[in-house]
Amino acid sequence: MLKSGIAVAEQITATVKSEEHAGELAEQFNIRVLAGGNLAAVETADVVILAVKPSVMPAVLQEIRWSLRDGRILISLAAAFPIALIEHLTGRRMPVFRAMPNIPCVVGTGATGIAYNALATEEHKEFVSRIFSAIGVVCFVEEDLLHAVTALSGSGPAYIYMVIEALIAGGLKQGLSHEVSTRLAEQTVLGAAKLVKDTGLHPAILRDQVITPGGVTISAIHELEAHGLRSMLISAVETATEHSRTVTNKIMEKNQNTNE
Ligand SMILES: NC(=O)c1ccc[n+]([C@@H]2O[C@H](COP(=O)([O-])OP(=O)(O)OC[C@H]3O[C@@H](n4cnc5c(N)ncnc54)[C@H](OP(=O)(O)O)[C@@H]3O)[C@@H](O)[C@H]2O)c1
Repeated sequence: MLKSGIAVAEQITATVKSEEHAGELAEQFNIRVLAGGNLAAVETADVVILAVKPSVMPAVLQEIRWSLRDGRILISLAAAFPIALIEHLTGRRMPVFRAMPNIPCVVGTGATGIAYNALATEEHKEFVSRIFSAIGVVCFVEEDLLHAVTALSGSGPAYIYMVIEALIAGGLKQGLSHEVSTRLAEQTVLGAAKLVKDTGLHPAILRDQVITPGGVTISAIHELEAHGLRSMLISAVETATEHSRTVTNKIMEKNQNTNE
């Protein structure tokens, strides 16, 4: 929020659990940080961002519900925790957003999928988009598609780390040093992604441009096809999407008897 320029440090209050962490965060960001004190923090807030683990969400929502006001904005980062359950547990009519960022947001190159409820206006969407645009790209999706977002960009960095790791190992096997293998592998992934983004071309077209008939690249691509690289990644995203859906169903089952 500080980076996006939509708020200055004096306007932000964060809460954590431990006193020790509160002190660290206050020093790092020069903002007000409370250990506990969620109710007090929410009382005067126009925007409330929840970034606790999904298992902690019900308790925190019950705790702050009396301080929430209709019309203020609520943003949840809790993976797999549905908007309907947030609405149910708060009992408020307020714009609710669910954001699924990914780990490269720590270097400003994140990808965040965002869903929202019926009370969110274009103005609210613009505001929320500005927050997450400060740490990368933002895509608005239907809530059900957040499972696919989680599977693709949420978990995706883990898949790509495996690709980078394997490329480094490939270089090492062929005699490149650790240093050279690592530099070349990371830059190759970074550069290939940047070229897709900057040119707007389909990756298959860019891939074709690297292939010389009878050359080196096509012999490697034959190996990748023989081992089903593309099919494996498609299945990985499918399995992770299904798993995310299962997690949401479990959260719903667990909370279905929660009293308002
Ligand atoms: N990590 C990811 O890549 C990622 C991606 C997308 C979404 N998410 C979602 O983001 C959320 C946070 O994930 P995380 O990995 O950052 O979790 P985390 O490391 O466990 O951090 C949770 C934070 O919540 C604080 N906290 C816990 N209980 C609290 C309470 N009752 N009141 C106030 N603060 C409380 C903790 O305080 P202390 O520091 O004092 O313990 C901690 O700072 C989760 O819902 C997760 O699903 C994470």
